[in-house]
Amino acid sequence: MSDLTELLSAKLGEAFVAEGLDAALGQVRVSDRPDLAQFQCNGAMAAAKIAKTNPRAIAEKIKTRLENDPLLEKVELAGPGFINLTLTDDFLNQQINSVVGDERLGIAKHDPAQSVVIDFGGPNVAKPMHVGHLRTCNIGDSLQRLFRFMGDDVTSDVHMGDWGLQMGQVLYGLEHPELTGVTVDGLPDLEDLEKIYPIVSAASKEDDEVLKASREITAKLQARDIVYYPKWEEVRRVSVDAMREGFTSLGVSFDEYKGEADADPLIAPMVDDLKAKGITRMSEGALVIDVEQDGDKKEMPPLILLKSDGAALYHTTDMATIIDRVNCHNPDLILYVVDQRQHQHFEQLFRGAIKGGINGKAFMEHLGFGTMNGTDNKPFKTREGGVMKLSDLISMATETARKRMDEAGLAADSTAEEKQVIAKQVGLAALKFSDLSNHRMSNYVFDMDHMVAFEGKTGPYLQYAAVRIKSILARAEDQGRDVEGAIEIGAPEERNLVLALSGLQAALNMAYDKRAPNALTDYVYGLAQAFSSFYAACPAVREEDARIRGSRLALCRLTLAQLELVLGLLGIEIPERM
Ligand code: ARG
Repeated sequence: MSDLTELLSAKLGEAFVAEGLDAALGQVRVSDRPDLAQFQCNGAMAAAKIAKTNPRAIAEKIKTRLENDPLLEKVELAGPGFINLTLTDDFLNQQINSVVGDERLGIAKHDPAQSVVIDFGGPNVAKPMHVGHLRTCNIGDSLQRLFRFMGDDVTSDVHMGDWGLQMGQVLYGLEHPELTGVTVDGLPDLEDLEKIYPIVSAASKEDDEVLKASREITAKLQARDIVYYPKWEEVRRVSVDAMREGFTSLGVSFDEYKGEADADPLIAPMVDDLKAKGITRMSEGALVIDVEQDGDKKEMPPLILLKSDGAALYHTTDMATIIDRVNCHNPDLILYVVDQRQHQHFEQLFRGAIKGGINGKAFMEHLGFGTMNGTDNKPFKTREGGVMKLSDLISMATETARKRMDEAGLAADSTAEEKQVIAKQVGLAALKFSDLSNHRMSNYVFDMDHMVAFEGKTGPYLQYAAVRIKSILARAEDQGRDVEGAIEIGAPEERNLVLALSGLQAALNMAYDKRAPNALTDYVYGLAQAFSSFYAACPAVREEDARIRGSRLALCRLTLAQLELVLGLLGIEIPERM
């Protein structure tokens, strides 16, 4: 189905051109005053400024040109020169019926498909996954689902941190039980690793010897030392198993479980290549690439390719990883869903990659995001002031959901196990929706009470809305009611629902173009509200007129299909019942 604002913009654009004006002035959007009109165009005001005439006069001319348009029920002028537009019900009916029963709900796939790599998650080996990983997982996962749905050829890569100093620190810790208090017989398990890392990390800050020794081990590891490399492989394996479990419990999956270390074999040839291209220089013993550019407003330090001891750094592995991705996927686009605080790192990286000519045809974008804060407006901490583990956060959300369900008498006739499954689905929906409904660049305050509510703009409210429609349709089927009639607008609430349903393409485009899943949360919430008003005013199952009933049940079905699609793109599951 066409995006109605786009279709109307094209129409208005033609009218502006016919008046000797720019087509872009015909831009149409959904009306700010739905009580007056469905859509509006404000182009006459801008046109009048340019032509130094009266906006109302221009608006009149445009209106005259649209007067006999069969798709338009009304064209009206308001205020200084707003053009208000209302489509005919016939046209809306025809549009909406064209998508009923379509498995893609009328959304075309991008043609040609782009090859896109999405880098998100980014946990570090031997460190537990914590709340800081929630946003990259939610946003990254939602984008991989959206890009895939829109037809792109997506490869997601978790890009673990497994090659830096923290690895040397963990290996040092394994050799020093007197420091860590952890004695490992045979292979370390995750619990050992999670204890060891923070202790050695803290010790490195206080004791230069520990730092120095950890650095030496890191260098040896990177040189594939026969002692440290096999130990590292074990540590990595234990950690990856735990990560997979963590991601699975969030409902997030990756095509590739690669890490920084996977790019290691590409580092030496890359360094030779970049040296040969003459873009590197020595600076205080380190090999660097200058990446500042004319017009930089902020200082842009050089990218450090190799440290003076020859060790690879974060930039080094990220550069080599670009080469690996070009070799494996020849991407058109690489997206990095990483905390905004790493923005400079990515700016340097992209400039370095372009300067070195290593990125093939790939356009690279850093999709930054703000932090999830506590009520003190600082990055969220546990009550004790520590970093909360992701698994603890999920349990907390599940427990809160369970409590709320009991209070509201939801899923009352489900078994205890079923209730637990639903509670987890509700808890995760709460976490994901509240996170995604904030624009990714804003920080937001974590508020469990608000996000697990069954009312308001929350994940649980939307799950509930979907489950309710399922039960309406089940009831209709039980009663032998036909749920597949053609949609025919009668009541104003039906028209509003059809208009809401017609906005899907625009919402998907917006979320895709801006890489902003909050366009989808806004959309589903608006849709659920339109449905709720519709359902309050327009009985469906018990409507006696078969045509009206068929139309209303078809609206229920289409609304459910859209909720399922969009919640699915947000990574939110809909419980069977609630
Ligand atoms: N491991 C990194 C961190 O914890 C995030 C990795 C992001 N991806 C990347 N290609 N640099 O900060």
